Amino acid sequence: MSCIFRAEDLVFKADNREILSGISFAVDRGQLMAVCGPNGAGKSCLLRILKGLSRPHSGKIFFSEQDCTKNEKLRLSKTGLVFQDADVQTIGETVEKDIAFGPRNLKMGKDEIKRAVDDAISFFDLEKFRKQGPETLSGGERRKLVIAGVIAMDPEVIMLDEPFANLDYRGVQMVLRAILKLKESGRTIILVSHEVEKFLGLCDRVLIINDGKSVFEGEPEEAKRHFKENGIHCSDLPLDKLNWLEEE
Ligand SMILES: Nc1ncnc2c1ncn2[C@@H]1O[C@H](COP(=O)(O)OP(=O)(O)O)[C@@H](O)[C@H]1O
Ligand SMILES: [Mg+2]
Repeated sequence: MSCIFRAEDLVFKADNREILSGISFAVDRGQLMAVCGPNGAGKSCLLRILKGLSRPHSGKIFFSEQDCTKNEKLRLSKTGLVFQDADVQTIGETVEKDIAFGPRNLKMGKDEIKRAVDDAISFFDLEKFRKQGPETLSGGERRKLVIAGVIAMDPEVIMLDEPFANLDYRGVQMVLRAILKLKESGRTIILVSHEVEKFLGLCDRVLIINDGKSVFEGEPEEAKRHFKENGIHCSDLPLDKLNWLEEE
């Protein structure tokens, strides 16, 4: 498999403080990588940098082995970021208008926008909500809607910041199914969450950050040994039981 996204020794400073110090990882095309760490570890800050919304103080970022550390434009076009607060990201009057917002912003042609919206709606099974307002959807459906809005812009890497926050069991399952479907369609996914019991068994790689530093990068099975010392709760269940779709 080929490496699609790679970071080397990223450092980010704000207010004379190192928020990130020495973050490195590599994710292959089509992989699902989890980024875990306690609150305040720097996970959202890392996503903002990867997306191209801020520039690291030092370190390097590569996209398909091309150095894009100072090329925010490339990162903005190749990556999609689903923010933690789904409600902030829903802006359209209806589901279809909401999904069309991103493609319209990218100045896609009318037919292309329609195709992107229709594809995203059918991919995420949102057809019956097409003409409804986003506020009428359940938590899980609304989270799927924001993911659909990002997918309609056709990013190669999709990054999700705490996609399970404030969702009930069914909502989490709905989002997990959407994530798996994205993976099956060949997308590369970076999933930020500390709720590892909900998805760990579905991941290919795990990056653990604590206090702005990478403390582990590798396979999920091995990652389990590093959770406790880094303030992440995880039960002792075997890896194949660590996902909320397991009981289906
Ligand atoms: N641009 C910034 N300016 C100042 N402080 C920041 C900035 N970005 C993040 N921080 C601080 O860095 C720390 C990590 O934040 P964040 O990335 O949101 O953590 P996490 O998502 O892991 O909970 C927090 O203490 C936050 O206040
Ligand atoms: Mg965060």
